[in-house]
Amino acid sequence: MDFRFTEEQEMIRQAARGFAESECLPDVIGRDERQEFARDQVMRLAELGFMGMMVAPEYGGSGMDMVSYVLAMEEISKVDASVSVCMSVNNSLVLWGLEAYGTEAQKQQYLIPLAKGRKDGELYIGAFLLSEPEAGSDATSQRTTAVDHGDHYLLNGTKNWITNGSSASVYLVMAQTDPAKGSRGINAFIVEKDWLGVTVGAKENKMGIRGSDTHSIIFNDVRVPKQHRIGEDGFGFSFAMQTLAGGRIGIAAQALGIASGAYERSLAYAKQREAFGKPIADHQAVQFKLADMATRIETARLLCLKAAWEKDQGLDYTMSSSMAKVYASETAMWVTTEAVQVHGGYGYVKEYHVERLMRDAKITQIYEGTSEVQRIVIGRQALKG
Ligand code: CAA
Repeated sequence: MDFRFTEEQEMIRQAARGFAESECLPDVIGRDERQEFARDQVMRLAELGFMGMMVAPEYGGSGMDMVSYVLAMEEISKVDASVSVCMSVNNSLVLWGLEAYGTEAQKQQYLIPLAKGRKDGELYIGAFLLSEPEAGSDATSQRTTAVDHGDHYLLNGTKNWITNGSSASVYLVMAQTDPAKGSRGINAFIVEKDWLGVTVGAKENKMGIRGSDTHSIIFNDVRVPKQHRIGEDGFGFSFAMQTLAGGRIGIAAQALGIASGAYERSLAYAKQREAFGKPIADHQAVQFKLADMATRIETARLLCLKAAWEKDQGLDYTMSSSMAKVYASETAMWVTTEAVQVHGGYGYVKEYHVERLMRDAKITQIYEGTSEVQRIVIGRQALKG
C-alpha cells in the first residue's frame, strides 16, 4: 500500500489550493452575507477544467481520477463551500450519470458543454432534481409525475432545495411515470431550464453555504421529448441512487475541506494568541482540542480517499462512500464547533471565518442523504455481506 499521491494528483491539489486562496478567499465573507452566487469564480473553475474533472477528454472533460477530485474538493472547500458544492453537483450528480448512461446524442448535446462548464462564452452547468417538499429521505415517494404521451412525456410537480437552481441551464429530473410500480416506476429526464412551463421558484435564505444558489423548481405541463429520458423505462430510481453514491464522496470531501479549513485557522490562531503569559497552543486544554481535530480529520481523509480509490478501481463503493460522508460531515460539525471555541469571542464574529465554516458544516450532514440515511445504507450493506 502506498499513501503518496502521484505527481499529477499533487499538482491538481496545488492548483486547487492556489485558486481557492487567490480567487475565492477575497470577499468570501461578503458573498456569504449577500447570499451571492460566485459566478466569476465558477466560470474560472470551468476554465481550469474543474467543472468536468472526471469526464473523458473526448466529451469535454479533464479525464482525471476521483482521488484528484477529492483533493480539489478539499482545497476549495477549505475556503468557500458555496463554490465547491456547485462544482460537486455538476461533476458528480450531473456529469457522472450522463457519461455512464446517456445516449451518444445526449452526450453530444449536453455532456460536452456541461463538462466544459461553458457554452457560447456563458456559464453552462447542471442541477440534480430529486428532493421534493414531501420526498426528501424517502426518495421513492416522488409526487412529480411524467405522463407518457407517445413521443413525449408531460412533466408536472415541484422540486425543492435545488443546488444551482437558477444558475443551471440543464436539469436532471426524477419523476414518477407509473406510481403502481413504486421505485421501478420512476424515470430520469434531461430538461432545459428555458423550456415552456419551467419556473424557478424563490431563492432559499439559508443558514450556511449562503453563496450557493438554492431554489425550488416548478414544472407545469412541461413537454419532455422521449429521447430525453435516461436509460430504459423505470431506470430512474436506480440511476438516482447510483449517482448519489458517487456524489456522497464529493460531499464527504467538501466536509473534509470545511473541517481542515477550520483546523488550519485554529492552529495558526492558537500559535499567535497569548493568554496567561504564553501562546494558547501551549495550554494543554487547547493542544488536546487541536490533537483531536487533527486525528478526526485524518480519519475522514482516509475514508474519502478509500472511497475515491474504490471508484477509480471499478469496485463497489456504495458502503465506503456512505461511511466517508457520515464520518466526514460529523467531523466537520465537531471540528468547526471546536474551532469557534479555540477562537473564543473572535470565533463568534465573521472576520475570523470559523463561524461561517461552522454554519457551512451543518448542511453536509443533511444534503445528498442525511447522516441517518447514510447509516441505513451502511447497515443494509453490512447485513448483505
Ligand atoms: N444502486 C442501484 N440501485 C439501488 C441503490 C444503489 N446504490 N440503492 C437502492 N437501489 C435500488 C434497490 O435495489 C431497489 O431496487 P429493486 O426494487 O429492484 O429491488 C430500489 O432501488 C429501492 O431501494 P430501497 O428498497 O432500498 O429503497 P428505500 O425506499 O428503502 O430507500 C434510501 C432507500 C437509501 C433511504 C434512499 O431512498 C435514499 O438514499 N434516500 C435519500 C435520498 C437523498 O440522498 N436525497 C438527496 C437529494 S439530492 C441533493 O441533496 C442534491 C443537492 O442539490 C446537493
